[in-house]
Amino acid sequence: MKSKGIKEILQSEPSLQPLKIAGWVRSFRSNRFIALNDGSTIKNLQCVVDFENFDENLIRKITVGAAIEVEGVLVESQGQGQTVEIQVEDITILGEADPEEVKFTILSPKRHTLEKLREQAHLRIRTNTFGAVMRLRSKLAFAVHEYFQKNGFYYMNTPIITGSDAEGAGEMFGVTTMDLKSIPLNEQGEIDYKKDFFEKESNLTVSGQLEAETYAMGLGKVYTFGPTFRAENSNTSRHLAEFWMIEPEVAFYDLSDNMDLAEDFIKYVVKYALDHCEDDLDFLENRLIQEEKTKPLAERSDMSLKDKLRFVVDNNFKRVSYTEAIDILKNSKPNKKKKFKYVIEEWGADLQSEHERFLVEKHFKCPVILFDYPANIKAFYMRLNEDGKTVRAMDVLFPGIGEIVGGSQREERYEVLKEKMTAMDIPEEELYWYLDLRKFGTCVHSGFGLGFERLVQFVTGMGNIRDVIPYPRTPGNAEF
Ligand code: 4AD
Ligand code: MG
Repeated sequence: MKSKGIKEILQSEPSLQPLKIAGWVRSFRSNRFIALNDGSTIKNLQCVVDFENFDENLIRKITVGAAIEVEGVLVESQGQGQTVEIQVEDITILGEADPEEVKFTILSPKRHTLEKLREQAHLRIRTNTFGAVMRLRSKLAFAVHEYFQKNGFYYMNTPIITGSDAEGAGEMFGVTTMDLKSIPLNEQGEIDYKKDFFEKESNLTVSGQLEAETYAMGLGKVYTFGPTFRAENSNTSRHLAEFWMIEPEVAFYDLSDNMDLAEDFIKYVVKYALDHCEDDLDFLENRLIQEEKTKPLAERSDMSLKDKLRFVVDNNFKRVSYTEAIDILKNSKPNKKKKFKYVIEEWGADLQSEHERFLVEKHFKCPVILFDYPANIKAFYMRLNEDGKTVRAMDVLFPGIGEIVGGSQREERYEVLKEKMTAMDIPEEELYWYLDLRKFGTCVHSGFGLGFERLVQFVTGMGNIRDVIPYPRTPGNAEF
């Protein structure tokens, strides 16, 4: 085993026992103070060098970005900002970093914009901001599994390559091994998928829901946590072409149970971050305060990052039907003054993110769960209500984020589902297996999808979704 990481060392008592620790140089002041970081924590370990006792050539190689190994003893710190530091006895340069080249990278010690960091996404993990965000991302992923495992759910993996369109929205990336320069055609002049690898048209999944439903019908409570893909051309701060989705699916749950589950789950993972990621959250909270200072007063938030997280954990989400929401929006100031880009004229309108954010940020001032949407603006699989025009859908809306969860009670009645599929042009041959579930022991069941990156955005306070996933995939960008 290698020696302890910096996180552990910083929590240790001074000791004469020699230590060995490797990391990257964050700064080197006065030829004496090395700030060393190994990624285990946002905090650096101060390593104090008596440069008089070291070879000048070696000292010259201790530069920002270099990988080094330090040997020494842990002593009480003389300076401010840390309680312990390493009195260095030996240094090995593991990997140099030429300052002449470093100065053209984001490793150089000055402020870089998030856009600049994105261009050098392979190096940005060495910055404080990305270290904090990605440690939180990892902890949140663990909390997701912990929540479901503690509550009797089984983790299942749904296929990434599939023959069906789970959302029926046609926003899919095709998967093929055909030669795009000479695509085989059939007698009707259409693409002959029989000649393709899977002998049928296939694509990257947009959601694992339909397959998760099949497993909920045997295991009872399941969840997925995997990558999903959407070929939607939305260049916003909340959309990715490749994102990770968490999808629980539960037999015998109705919409109300589903809302309870979503609320309880989100509160658990947010609380987990508060309880386990204090240093990183403190850093991100300060970062946000600095960022806010550049904004006009009216746009600044009156809550700090951790206050916002605590607010979510401590308060009930407001549950509001689509119909009530439309009334609120119709009578709202921005609607009457035509300040919305899409003015709400009547029941049935699809809600845009400006409307969702108005409800959450201005009207209710707390997370909101909207339910019972009009059938024709939602997917084919949602359960039709007795009124014949709304479905048992729910969206969880969050401040600053908008929609963080989308889910529903599923249509469990064979005939109703079949009719709906015909009406919405969903081919029965493709989803015969999904219909089968309604023939063999069908039951009320529900589930939802939570976009993991939107959750990470909320918890870290990062404004752009491209900054909460290591290598974002967006229209026009698949670098790295
Ligand atoms: O609302 P959506 O499209 O719902 C589904 O896919 C359902 N099949 C889920 C289910 O019931 N099992 O997507 C669910 C969530 C959204 O609320 C949002 O958080 C996230 O996935 N999401 C995206 N995140 C990042 N980039 C995108 N392009 C996203 N599209 C959806
Ligand atoms: Mg949705």
